Amino acid sequence: MLAPCTFIVFGATGNLARIKLLPAIYHLEEVGRIPDGSAIVGFSRRKFSNDEWREHVASTLKDKARGGLKNEVFERLSKRLHMVSGEMTDADSLQNLKTYIDANNLPKNLIFYMAIPPTQYTKVSQAIADTGLHQEEQGWRRLVIEKPFGYDSESAQVLNAKLHEHFTEKQIFRIDHYLGKAMVQNVLIFRFANLMLEPLWNRNYIDHVQITHSESLGISGRAAFYDGVGAMRDMIQSHLLQMLTLVAMEPPPNLDAESLRDEKVKVLKSIRPIAKRAVNAHAFRAQYGAGEVNGEHVQAYLQEEGVPAHSTTETYAALKLYIDNWRWRNVPFYLRTGKRMAQNSSVISIRFKHPPQQLFRQTQIEKIKPNWIILGIQPHECMRIEMQVKQPGLELNTHTTSLDASYCTHTDYQLDAYEALLLDIIENDRSLFLRYDEIAWAWGVVDPVIKQWDIERDYIHTYPAGSWGPPEVNKLFDRDDHYWRDALDQKED
Ligand SMILES: NC(=O)c1ccc[n+]([C@@H]2O[C@H](COP(=O)([O-])OP(=O)(O)OC[C@H]3O[C@@H](n4cnc5c(N)ncnc54)[C@H](OP(=O)(O)O)[C@@H]3O)[C@@H](O)[C@H]2O)c1
Repeated sequence: MLAPCTFIVFGATGNLARIKLLPAIYHLEEVGRIPDGSAIVGFSRRKFSNDEWREHVASTLKDKARGGLKNEVFERLSKRLHMVSGEMTDADSLQNLKTYIDANNLPKNLIFYMAIPPTQYTKVSQAIADTGLHQEEQGWRRLVIEKPFGYDSESAQVLNAKLHEHFTEKQIFRIDHYLGKAMVQNVLIFRFANLMLEPLWNRNYIDHVQITHSESLGISGRAAFYDGVGAMRDMIQSHLLQMLTLVAMEPPPNLDAESLRDEKVKVLKSIRPIAKRAVNAHAFRAQYGAGEVNGEHVQAYLQEEGVPAHSTTETYAALKLYIDNWRWRNVPFYLRTGKRMAQNSSVISIRFKHPPQQLFRQTQIEKIKPNWIILGIQPHECMRIEMQVKQPGLELNTHTTSLDASYCTHTDYQLDAYEALLLDIIENDRSLFLRYDEIAWAWGVVDPVIKQWDIERDYIHTYPAGSWGPPEVNKLFDRDDHYWRDALDQKED
């Protein structure tokens, strides 16, 4: 049986807590996975009594609970909910938190969840230490850090050093919520639980790999956060590079956290560094203009509230990488992400090479289409192998058929990544959290690009909102027959 804990959410009134953390906690309560006797303590500047806070949480959960808010579940959860208000960087407020925990006899195992602006991470960890709350005298301590972890290599290093002044590596949980997605974990199962794939999973058979994350939403009023950050820092440095490591890594000796993370780091270390003079050949950026998304006119990035008039922050970024190891040498990995694109979609597409002999050249088929493996991460969880078969009839024609290795549909039961991750924190399983060296190497991959882009601030390509991005990005392709797989659909060429 797991020991009870006190789960403290700094920034409990913020967006992340509202859309992700509180619903995840509710769903864990529903399935009885929160250890008996545990408490959830919200912390923010806005003042609430405990009763007001419980009402606030209930109204937040009303439209977020799967299948509607269930009274008996919320009653159980409600008994765990507490609120302490104060300035979280201030020693007196943190002392109040400590006094509250002691006075109410809350469990002495403490989780500090930083659902706060990244600029506050080190200040809050310092304030925690100043009150002695970080000391593991009467229970364990865990510190959860949200993304982004730093702004570039140097700032990530400084942040890490500051956190380590008071917390050990084993106490720090760095979140990349993509790793909590079931389908991302399924990449490992797909690769390592199926022997038939392994002989094909290398440069001899794979032509290239594409990883796409597209969003139809814009910046949703978050200009203050987004402008100056951009798609390369926000998405590629974290989620897309993590997906790349799972596709490219060697099988780990076992599934414990360190073995998995060791293998991911080896991939990141093997990525060919992008030289300053080669940035334009490897990376591309653009910004959305006005356009139409789902039948509605939407404004350009520069017209969004709070965006400076001449901003060149990229809302679209693409990157071509090579992994210089035995398995992947000279296989391009194309990564791209964008806001205000045609669809919401995260897909890993793996294209195989053509068969060595063009056996059908003299027939009506002429050109055989290559095989693809498509791993849909969201919204459709999907594993599909595309193959060529003969069309029924007298003529020798082919068409593409898919072997669906799992369901390719929306399911009603959508487990959110945060449910899995919060449970892992409570259970002290760090395999889906980032070790610092993963983050450092990932920053190392994108640093030359962001540094160059930070200098070149006079021009940026644009693409109409609602499109799949600008055609100029195709200059990244190594060969003429490379093209983007947009979402799950096969482009007939
Ligand atoms: N939102 C998302 O979808 C999302 C996704 C992934 C990662 N993240 C990360 O999660 C973190 C939180 O993001 P968010 O979108 O939730 O931010 P947010 O909506 O701005 O919320 C920030 C929270 O911090 C509190 N706060 C700020 N300064 C404070 C202070 N000095 N003392 C006490 N409380 C303070 C605010 O509460 P009061 O104003 O009431 O004090 C608020 O509850 C960020 O690091 C972000 O990058 C967010």
